[in-house]
Amino acid sequence: MIQFTETVLRDANQSLIATRLPFEKFEPILSEMDKADYYSCEVWGGATFDVCLRFLNEDPWERLRKIRKGMPNTKLQMLLRGQNILGYAHYPDDIVRRFVRKSVENGIDIIRIFDALNDVDNLKVAIEETVKSGAMASGAISYTISPVHTLDNYVKLVKEMASMGVGSICIKDMAGLLTPKNAYDLVSAIKDAVDLPVVMHTHCTTGLAFMTYLKGVEAGADVIDTAISPFSGGTSQPATETLSYTLRELGYDINLNKEALHNIAAYFKPIRAEYLENGTLNPISLTTDTECLQYQIPGGMLSNLLSQLKMLNASDKFEEALKETPKVREDMGFPPLVTPTSQLVGNMAVQNVLAGERYKNVSSEIKAYCRGEYGKTPAPINPEVRAKILGDVKPIEGRYAETLPADTFEKAEEKLGDLAKCEEDVLSYIAFPSVAEKFLTDRKAKEENIWTFSIEEVK
Ligand code: CO
Repeated sequence: MIQFTETVLRDANQSLIATRLPFEKFEPILSEMDKADYYSCEVWGGATFDVCLRFLNEDPWERLRKIRKGMPNTKLQMLLRGQNILGYAHYPDDIVRRFVRKSVENGIDIIRIFDALNDVDNLKVAIEETVKSGAMASGAISYTISPVHTLDNYVKLVKEMASMGVGSICIKDMAGLLTPKNAYDLVSAIKDAVDLPVVMHTHCTTGLAFMTYLKGVEAGADVIDTAISPFSGGTSQPATETLSYTLRELGYDINLNKEALHNIAAYFKPIRAEYLENGTLNPISLTTDTECLQYQIPGGMLSNLLSQLKMLNASDKFEEALKETPKVREDMGFPPLVTPTSQLVGNMAVQNVLAGERYKNVSSEIKAYCRGEYGKTPAPINPEVRAKILGDVKPIEGRYAETLPADTFEKAEEKLGDLAKCEEDVLSYIAFPSVAEKFLTDRKAKEENIWTFSIEEVK
């Protein structure tokens, strides 16, 4: 049987309309989605948390509880960036544990855990706590291509994640670089190495996704991430209906509820039209971009490079910056190009080109990366480059998280005072300090107004 994870409420929402769907907009369809027989629905994590607080004036925890209530029979899934939780900074272990526990308590069943460098030291605490909390940890590979990202190394990573207690392995191809052939080989290798379900995650960006899933399924993949048709394609996932139709015809056992899918698509169609019209959904996000196959650089990174150069009045250096990017990536030990490493490498390449000397102008993030604050790199950092960047600064030994202060939670609690009503509020603040503080302050003001109003009413 091939099962489906529906991404419309998280990745599709994030990739096409910058996570701008407020809860009220999808609340009416939750009961129908609950009937679709999905393997799981990805509903939380990634950018949802930040955007809820920053732009939608929604408490992300409350959103999760409401989704849980609206879909009591479906497994709810979230995406977690290992030791970074939902952001890019490293957090101490007890914060990671608290966040995982509260996510599960508020309704999450499956936590997909990944790290930008595939460093298992950044995954293990989150995986351990997920399992302890009674949820399923899905260990994700941040997929990339490089001389050190061999099948053998992926298999080694998968075995380590299996020994940590993950319930499934996810191949997370954030840029749409996974080809049908490589998908077939990778899924086969994972299936040979461990006795765990394999989940595939890709994006349609380069146009490969449907073929990639098909070959992955032929090799034994168990679950695929798809989006209901109105929110599929382009930078999002392939369409749920198309893949269920195709795979069913090919003889695979698919138990998705066709009628529910039809109703869900009908519901989201006018929403897509609305976002297209108001400009939130950019038609460019819906096209196929094959340039990134040639450069093996994620599409988002190409456009970032170009806009950065434009701002510096140096658009003519684009080709040069493009050629510099793989060199910097190699010097940095071949990190997968995903946030935040894609920004680190891209900015460094631009600086190198503009300065006319390599590693002359270095950002504090690159210094931190070379110190080892982001974790262990896939290959060693070029020692000469590292020495030039670090100077007298000593690299970190062991896990960076263990060097972080142990009283982060207590300090945040103290800082918030009566703005925080529960542990969840404090965790929101730790994850996104300024936006959460503003959200909690506004909430308090609103509640006080309601209170004054009701006293006047009584009078
Ligand atoms: Co994705």
